[in-house]
Amino acid sequence: MACTLEREYHCGMAVTDANPDSFRRMDESTAEQWAHIGARTFENQGRVADRMIMLLESLAEISDGFITDQLTHCLQTATMAEKAGADEEMIFGALMHDVGKAISVPNHGAISAEMIKPYVRDDVYKAILNHQDFQGKHYYGHFGAPTDLRYTKYDQSESWWALCAEFTDDWDQQAFDPDAETYPLEHFEPLIRKVTATTKQALGD
Ligand SMILES: [Fe+2]
Ligand SMILES: [Fe+2]
Repeated sequence: MACTLEREYHCGMAVTDANPDSFRRMDESTAEQWAHIGARTFENQGRVADRMIMLLESLAEISDGFITDQLTHCLQTATMAEKAGADEEMIFGALMHDVGKAISVPNHGAISAEMIKPYVRDDVYKAILNHQDFQGKHYYGHFGAPTDLRYTKYDQSESWWALCAEFTDDWDQQAFDPDAETYPLEHFEPLIRKVTATTKQALGD
């Protein structure tokens, strides 16, 4: 039987990695214990890519009335980014930009952005964080909401602004075509593992 996330937590890594000599309160911890935890965490870094892939796969179950499921949409967006010559971090961002919908649609941009934040430059993080407001240009009018949020809420001189506009206008909003070229998830797996192999974030960032 396949190991579900819950079973994996109880029967896999979390149990086999446990250290019976570790602290029970952080204010009683030692540098040696933290060195051990740091080393184990580093060894288990591949789990990040595994979980991201798992969440992306779960988007195949979510269509919510769109013509394509959300995994296809994310794959197609990333395919467009790659074909346009985007760099690896932006392709990764394009692939992950709607993964937050696996948890909650209204705040999916923020969820997705925080998931990729330690692994991409700040411009990519900000582009994904704010993509919904920029996307509003293409459809918020149907809801009576403002379509110019990209101009009224944000400063066009921000370094990420043009990237976010390119992302939403040229890729994201066009990636709902069941007949358009869409690379499979397997195509992006090496990229996901490469980008998430090391964090750009330090303690206190
Ligand atoms: Fe989105
Ligand atoms: Fe999207």
